[in-house]
Amino acid sequence: MSDLNTATTSSALMKTYQRLPLTILKGKGSYVWDDQDVKYLDYTAGIATCSLGHVPDQVQAKLKEQLDDLWHVSNLYQIPQQEALAEKIVSVSCFDQAFFCNSGAEANEAAIKLAKKYAKDHQKPERTEIVTFSNSFHGRTGSTMAATAQTKIHNGFTPITPGFTYLPFNQMEAIEQIDTEKTAGVLLELVQGEGGVHPADAAWVQALDTYCKEADILLMVDEIQTGMGRTGTLFAYEQYDIEPDAITLAKGLGSGFPIGALAAKNKAADSFSPGTHGSTFGGNPLAATAGLATLDQIADTAFLQDVQEKSILLTEALNELVENNTLVKEVRGKGFLIGLEVTNKAGTWVEKLREKQILVLTAGDHVVRILPPLTTDKEELFTFIGVLTAIAAEL
Ligand SMILES: Cc1ncc(COP(=O)(O)O)c(C=O)c1O
Repeated sequence: MSDLNTATTSSALMKTYQRLPLTILKGKGSYVWDDQDVKYLDYTAGIATCSLGHVPDQVQAKLKEQLDDLWHVSNLYQIPQQEALAEKIVSVSCFDQAFFCNSGAEANEAAIKLAKKYAKDHQKPERTEIVTFSNSFHGRTGSTMAATAQTKIHNGFTPITPGFTYLPFNQMEAIEQIDTEKTAGVLLELVQGEGGVHPADAAWVQALDTYCKEADILLMVDEIQTGMGRTGTLFAYEQYDIEPDAITLAKGLGSGFPIGALAAKNKAADSFSPGTHGSTFGGNPLAATAGLATLDQIADTAFLQDVQEKSILLTEALNELVENNTLVKEVRGKGFLIGLEVTNKAGTWVEKLREKQILVLTAGDHVVRILPPLTTDKEELFTFIGVLTAIAAEL
């Protein structure tokens, strides 16, 4: 363990986060330990990032090997680890090519650029806009903040980058409102994570997919939170019986090592040619190694089957809480991306659980967001359910 100063009273950090008075110094599997050596069951998984648990053995071993050989070379050279990760993504999805960057926002930036370039390349230069949906979350950079259809995210940053049109999420009428004259692409989450854990309806998504295909508008799914097994299938789009033109990935892709990706079908991906997009660090040997070791484990049918079974168990238990406790209104989500809507403040539940050494998140004022590592076992799930039920009875 390091000898870092863990005092939280003064800080030279910019105050962009409301940090809790908890300093985590170590993690393994589903658990983390604080600076007092108190052990917590971590059902935040670094906000859907440490999907194989903390410091997973196989990823750790591969990273250690790579640390001895080479950390970084520029994208001006061949990078076999990056090639291998791209091939793996292509082999387990409906996509043909991948581009690597370092975060979710950057992956969405790449998708936004790709849609515009695709329109120009296909003689539709007037198509410059991207459609996104109410309550979405796509990142904090200039364009991805603008793509995020939530005024609270825009506040203080006007003028917001132009070129985004917001339509109502899950509303059939919204599809008709897409302006085919000026729209280059549609970007959407299949389960809105930050926006309160709201799954998209299958019929709506399929109608949107059909509309986009007929109008030759790129349909791009932001799988930054839903991808990498989080919803019980490797990618959430598989559950909607659609093949989008592109998806964006980050969070769970590198088990906590920063990496993002845009994966696309040839039709769209071919619009990126040398010089059109790039990243210094994107897909460097360390990042690509983390990604490949993670994907190798998650893209396994038995692994995903196990996630589905465990998520059913958890969801059923949470539904029992809904039936038996008036404070608990609804359970939403897919797989291990679960939102529990409560009538009181979600923060109260988060605090009470933390007092019992369990970490969860909120998603808005009234939603407790539960993101177990995909590797959590039934015993841990029963512990979580037991503590949550006791808290519900207490409140
Ligand atoms: C759906 C979605 N898109 C994009 C992002 C932005 O990712 P990052 O924080 O890695 O830039 C997030 C992060 O929470 C997300 O949940």
